[in-house]
Amino acid sequence: MKLYIETVGCQMNMLDSELVVASLRKDGYELTADVGEADTILFNTCSVRQHAEDKIYSALGRLKNAKRQHPDKVIGVLGCMAQKDQGLIFKRAPYVDLIVGPGQLHQVPELVREIRERGGQRMEVSLGRKDGSRHEIERSHESFDPLRDPTMRPTPFQAYVRIMIGCDKFCTYCIVPSVRGPEQSRRASHILAEARQLAGEGCREITLLGQTVNSYRHREGDRTWRMSDLLAALHEIDDLERIKFVTNYPKDMTNDLLAAVRDLPKVSKYLHVPVQSGSNAVLRRMKRGYTVEEYREVLARMREWIPGVAVTSDFIVGFCGETDDDFQQTMDLVRESRFKNSFIFKYSERPGTKGAELYADDVPDDVKRRRNNELLELQNQISDEENHAFLGREVMVLVEGPSKAAEKHGAAQRAESSPSPAFSEQLQLTGRTHCDRIVVFTGNRRQIGQFLPVVIYDANAHTLFGEVVTQHVGPELFTLS
Ligand code: 5AD
Ligand code: SF4
Repeated sequence: MKLYIETVGCQMNMLDSELVVASLRKDGYELTADVGEADTILFNTCSVRQHAEDKIYSALGRLKNAKRQHPDKVIGVLGCMAQKDQGLIFKRAPYVDLIVGPGQLHQVPELVREIRERGGQRMEVSLGRKDGSRHEIERSHESFDPLRDPTMRPTPFQAYVRIMIGCDKFCTYCIVPSVRGPEQSRRASHILAEARQLAGEGCREITLLGQTVNSYRHREGDRTWRMSDLLAALHEIDDLERIKFVTNYPKDMTNDLLAAVRDLPKVSKYLHVPVQSGSNAVLRRMKRGYTVEEYREVLARMREWIPGVAVTSDFIVGFCGETDDDFQQTMDLVRESRFKNSFIFKYSERPGTKGAELYADDVPDDVKRRRNNELLELQNQISDEENHAFLGREVMVLVEGPSKAAEKHGAAQRAESSPSPAFSEQLQLTGRTHCDRIVVFTGNRRQIGQFLPVVIYDANAHTLFGEVVTQHVGPELFTLS
C-alpha cells in the first residue's frame, strides 16, 4: 500500500507527520511522492492563517476526480484544520473519508483500516476549550510520541522532540490554544528516554518543540523540572552534540534558562523569542502580556548573559487598529534590536479567537502588504549586516546535505540519466552554525552529518558562504575532507 502525505505549518506538524508515517509503515504502508499512485492520501494541516487553509481546500478540490475514478482511495485531513473545521470539511469536500485532530493522530492507522474494510466516513477530534473540565479537555488532547520514523526527519542526524503540547496564553489573534488544547508539559523521564534513543540511532542534534517551550514545567516525584533542568540533563547524553529549542515566550525567559544556554556548550546560542509588535497599544490588544519596554529588558538580558547570542522574532503587521504610528514603532524596535532574522506575517483573522470577536480586521490588505514589505526590507538589511560580521571568522557547521542549487543540479543530471555522482565527488553542501546561520560551502557527500570547521568569505542576508578549514599538520596542508 502506498501513502502520500503533505504537511504544512510548523515544526510540530512535521513531527506529527513523522509519527503518523511511522505508525502507518507498521501497517505495511510505503511512502510515495506521487499522489496519483497513492492508496491513502493525507494532509496534515495548519490553521494559523487563512492562506494555509485555502491551500488545503484547493488541494482537496484537485482530488475530487481522482476519488470519483478510484473510490477505494482513502483521503484524510489531519491536524489543526481538522480540529478547527471538523464536519465542515465533509460539507466542503464530501469525498473526504477521514478527519483527525492533532490529539487523535495515534488512531489514524486503525481508522484508515476501518474505512477500507467497512467504508463510510470517520471523524475523531478533541473537546473544545469550553466543552468539559480542564482534566477532560487535557485527556482529549493526548499526544503520541513513542514511534519514530527516521526517513521522515529533516535528516537522519537531526530530530524534533516534543516537550510540551498546547498553549494557555490565548493571544487574541491566535487559534493555537483552541486547536492544540491546554498547555501540558511532557514527563522529563520520557523526554530523556526518547532523546537517548534518538542519539543511539545516530541523531546528533535535537530540537525541543513547544508553543511556549520555555514555560516548560513538570513535577515528577518531589522534583519540579524546569526547561533549564531539562537542558542540563539532555546535555549529559553522550552522542548528542547540539540542542535547540523553539518557540520561546518573552515573559518566561528566566535567568536560570539564560545561564543554562550560556553554560552548556551543546545548547545552541540561538533564541527565537517572538515580540509580534513594537507598539504597546497593539501588544495590549494582542494580549501578549508584556510591554515593549519589558521586551527590551528581556532582549538586553539575553545579550548580556549570552555573549554572541542570535535572537530571532516573529511579527504580525496590520493587526486590528494598527496605525501608521504603531507600525513605525515596530520599525523602530526592529532597527534597534538587530534580530538575526524575523518572520513577518500579515494579520489573518481567525474565527473563534478573541481578536475576531472583539476587534474589526480594519487594516486594508494593501496596507498590510506594504508594511510587510517595508519591515522585511529593514530586517533583511540588518540580517545582511549581521552576517557580514562573520567574514573571516571560523564557525563549526553541522553538515545537513547538498545545497538547494546542488540538489537541483543533481535532479537535472538524473533526468538526463547521466551516471550518479561518485561518492567522493565535490558538491555544494549546506549546514548550520551553532547560532543557526545557514552556511554553504564545497565538500563531498561523506561529510554529511559531520561537524566541520568552516571559514566564512562571503555573506548575504540569508546565507554565509565559506570554505572548510584546512589544517596545517606536519609539512603538508590537507583538508579535513
Ligand atoms: N495572523 C497572522 N499571523 C499569525 N501568527 C499567529 N496567528 C496569526 C494570525 N492570526 C503568527 C505569529 C506567530 C507565528 C507562528 O504565526 O507571529 O508567532
Ligand atoms: Fe498562539 Fe500566543 Fe500561544 Fe504562541 S503564545 S501559540 S501566539 S496563543
